[in-house]
Amino acid sequence: KKKIAVMTSGGDSPGMNAVVRAVVRYAIHRGCDAFAIYEGYEGLVQGGDMIRQMQWGDVRGWLAEGGTLIGTARCMAFRERAGRLRAAKNLIAAGIDSLIVCGGDGSLTGADLFRSEWPSLVQELEDTQAITKETADLYRHLTIVGLVGSIDNDMSSTDVTIGAFSSLHRICESVDSISSTAISHSRAFVVEVMGRHCGWLAVLAALATGADFVFIPEKPAEVGKWQDEMCNALQTFRRLGKRKSIIIVAEGAIDSELKPISAEDIKNLLVDRLHLDTRVTTLGHVQRGGVPCAYDRMLATLQGVDAVDAALASTPETPSPMIAINGNKINRKPLMEAVKLTHQVAEAIEAKKFAHAMELRDPEFAD
Ligand code: F6P
Repeated sequence: KKKIAVMTSGGDSPGMNAVVRAVVRYAIHRGCDAFAIYEGYEGLVQGGDMIRQMQWGDVRGWLAEGGTLIGTARCMAFRERAGRLRAAKNLIAAGIDSLIVCGGDGSLTGADLFRSEWPSLVQELEDTQAITKETADLYRHLTIVGLVGSIDNDMSSTDVTIGAFSSLHRICESVDSISSTAISHSRAFVVEVMGRHCGWLAVLAALATGADFVFIPEKPAEVGKWQDEMCNALQTFRRLGKRKSIIIVAEGAIDSELKPISAEDIKNLLVDRLHLDTRVTTLGHVQRGGVPCAYDRMLATLQGVDAVDAALASTPETPSPMIAINGNKINRKPLMEAVKLTHQVAEAIEAKKFAHAMELRDPEFAD
């Protein structure tokens, strides 16, 4: 009987519980034993009670729960080979040879490294007599499948990550609330949203709320120009009768010299130049917690099911797959290729090759 484990890692995102539910139930449906690794890589390194077999009823009601009920943690020990060796021993002790990891690019890189190192870890366990040769022979290959759970939607090769639309929805609700008080006082609000080095949440939120101006990392504001551009736009809208001004700024926003642009910088400009009564709202972790929207429940379920199918189809020769969605179709992509492209986006931004960064992020929307 195949034993498949699922874990969540990195920052939590809405829909991670729906992933765990889908993996556990579909693995059982396919005749496998299902396990959950608690507290991310930390649980893998600690082993024992952190690796638990899951039954159908254990994930009842998890579809609509926010966060991740099996926990997540940043784990320093897993970054060292000694930690990964302990993790390998724990997995083998539980009889597990397939691991489905739901997390962001950092977590998925860790997973793939674990897989590439796996044969040498097993060999070392055998050489040090931590396991017998017979056991080692049963576990020469580790199957890894990646699912992308992140509110940032910053992974290349997939259109949407699990949690991004829930977060977007929460941002829109918050901006709607801000709008009514802004209109009452004829105020300007600078709203800072999450997304790390990715502007997806900011752009989509600006579109969905009819914001006046948006700052994102991938299309940096031009030094010496953006101040006039923004003030002119806001003045035009005010002249047309608008009683509020909403500026969305991604937390990773930069100018064309790569200098961060902060919500405070923008506020000061609006006060000094346009004499607008201006407030800053940093939305923070309300964007990340809370129930998943319908889309994320659906995405998590379909991708969770495909992750189990991918694990069952995996061979030592095939590269670790990442479950993506492209043009509304659930798709498998080589995990390391997707991670590499994602890292190249950051490199392109650092090299001021902004158009190339957009292309790497999503070739279809590069313009
Ligand atoms: O990657 C998800 C995310 O919420 C980012 O948008 C944000 O930059 C970061 O995590 C915040 O991390 P922490 O919860 O550790 O403060």
